[in-house]
Amino acid sequence: MNLPLHVAVIMDGNGRWAENRGEKREIGHLFGAKRVPAVARAFFDRGVRIVSLYAFSQENFRRPPIEVQGIFGCVEAFARSVETLGDDVRVIFSGEKSALPPSLAAACLAAEERTEVNKPFILNILIAYGGREEILRAARMLSGEKITEQNFRSALYADLPDPDLIIRTGGEKRLSGFMPFQSAYSELYFTDVLFPDFGDKDIEAALADYSSRQRRFGSLPPPKVP
Ligand code: IPE
Ligand code: IPE
Ligand code: MG
Repeated sequence: MNLPLHVAVIMDGNGRWAENRGEKREIGHLFGAKRVPAVARAFFDRGVRIVSLYAFSQENFRRPPIEVQGIFGCVEAFARSVETLGDDVRVIFSGEKSALPPSLAAACLAAEERTEVNKPFILNILIAYGGREEILRAARMLSGEKITEQNFRSALYADLPDPDLIIRTGGEKRLSGFMPFQSAYSELYFTDVLFPDFGDKDIEAALADYSSRQRRFGSLPPPKVP
């Protein structure tokens, strides 16, 4: 089986999951957030080393404050209890921490510090993340310097290998600002499953699908063995 090193999940569909049950959208975020440790662990157990989860975009600040606060509450609770992920996971938060409420920004920073030592697995949570903003910010940071791919990458929120596989739950077939620089050659997988329902069999299906893909990076497929 051909495994991705880095898998990303655009965790979409929490709102509809709640609305389908006659509940407030915040309930969907609560149930979605509750699934996060198990989803990350399911990938790690299957040999994936890096998991990026898109939790909140810069554009999501356009939502009603009550919903934004609900999502932030979920992320803060997660950040305060990262130890429940196990002691083999390093957690990082990618995005504009200065745009977050101070208590959330502090909880994210503290979680990063507590898990900073060498770990086999990385969980990268994107929060207050803007894909275009990430590129503009890197360009601004390097203004006056000679820009190379290497120093440009090191000016991104997290200098990680590119995502090999990007999964989007919730049925929409778009990236909505997710890692525009890093996704140039990512394999894309879309599923109608709403994120709070995204479970082991969906994870297996996505990894099996990835395994069947042939990545060419602009080159030609290997010659067929006669
Ligand atoms: C969660 O899904 C992702 C976030 C933006 C926090 P949504 O809240 O977008 O759910 P839907 O797409 O409205 O169902
Ligand atoms: C993308 O979902 C962002 C996250 C999953 C955090 P959205 O629900 O914000 O995307 P659009 O608005 O449908 O493109
Ligand atoms: Mg959505």
